[in-house]
Amino acid sequence: MTKSSGILTAGGDSPGLNAAIRGIGKAAQTAFGMHVIGFRDGFRGLMENRTVRLEGSALSGILTVGGTLLGTSRDKPHRMPVGSKVMDMTDVMADNYHKHHLDILVCLGGGGTQKNAFKLVQKGLNIITLPKTIDNDVAMTDVTFGFDTALGIATEAIDRLHSTAHSHHRIIVVEIMGHNTGWLSLGAGIAGGADVILIPEIPYDVDKVAEAIHRRRREGKGFSIVAVSEGAMSKEEVAAFQEVKQKKKTAKNKKDKKEAKAELAKLEAQRANHTLRLSRELEKLTGLESRLTILGHLQRGGTPSAADRLLATRLGTACATLINEGVYGIMVAARGDSTESVPLEQVVGKRKTVPLDHPWIESARYVGTCLGD
Ligand code: F6P
Repeated sequence: MTKSSGILTAGGDSPGLNAAIRGIGKAAQTAFGMHVIGFRDGFRGLMENRTVRLEGSALSGILTVGGTLLGTSRDKPHRMPVGSKVMDMTDVMADNYHKHHLDILVCLGGGGTQKNAFKLVQKGLNIITLPKTIDNDVAMTDVTFGFDTALGIATEAIDRLHSTAHSHHRIIVVEIMGHNTGWLSLGAGIAGGADVILIPEIPYDVDKVAEAIHRRRREGKGFSIVAVSEGAMSKEEVAAFQEVKQKKKTAKNKKDKKEAKAELAKLEAQRANHTLRLSRELEKLTGLESRLTILGHLQRGGTPSAADRLLATRLGTACATLINEGVYGIMVAARGDSTESVPLEQVVGKRKTVPLDHPWIESARYVGTCLGD
């Protein structure tokens, strides 16, 4: 009997999604004779039953295209905004899955998508996930697709910032994405030769950063590049968050809990300009001019790198073979040159942060990079 598969992309887009859709779709149809459809805009499209044909020419010419032809959203199946309400729509999604007589739904996404897809597993749907995100923070896979492209973009940005920082004898603080993990900043910082790299895994001391910049100046290097993860925090910020979180956890009544929540929201709001504040603080502490560059969504846009196209195609085609074999409830992980099926229970709710003894950290220290500690 012909098998039917659905595909959706959820969470932030990332380069390589179209390559993965193409890999799944081409292998599923040409090698295994399956029927394949796409759902638009992540889990929302599954709920609203908005589909896209993924047959024949629909899969041609997309390998090199950034973003996702299916569209995406950050909507969660169990907490979906519907009109003015937020509702659990997992049953509606399950109904639509059955309406299309699907044998499997493939969800392409990062950590949040793994969690959301698992909600549908709990409703009895057959699900396979693929790990994508520029943050590289999905557990149980060597790497996620999108990361290599973003790494290249952030590295090139640091390369370019060098000449202008050098010409003006300035500090340039460059904010790099990565959510609450430092893979992207650390990787791009090392590859681009940043003088300081600040990541969420290592709370920083601003005086240590200023000291490193002073040291460079004494050595005749009048400029410095400071690569900062969007999620990096100073030691003081970490302590403040810990204190309020503890307050919230141990609150004895509703009033105390509400207060703690409000304090937490205030701290979070203050985070909005944290790299600008750092840039200004460094200016004060060093007497050097400082400028901030926020790379933002540039890091997610455009053509996927060769490595991401290759990885996405490998994971996508491996996914099609697993569908053919009737395997589900797993994420297709990258393992060396091969792929591996990891039960979704082992992926959900975990985040792959940079281990403090990771070789990248060791290398950064050996080449004299200040990590803010
Ligand atoms: O997860 C990918 C990512 O780009 C993160 O690095 C960043 O924190 C977040 O998405 C930004 O999300 P949005 O595009 O929804 O603003």
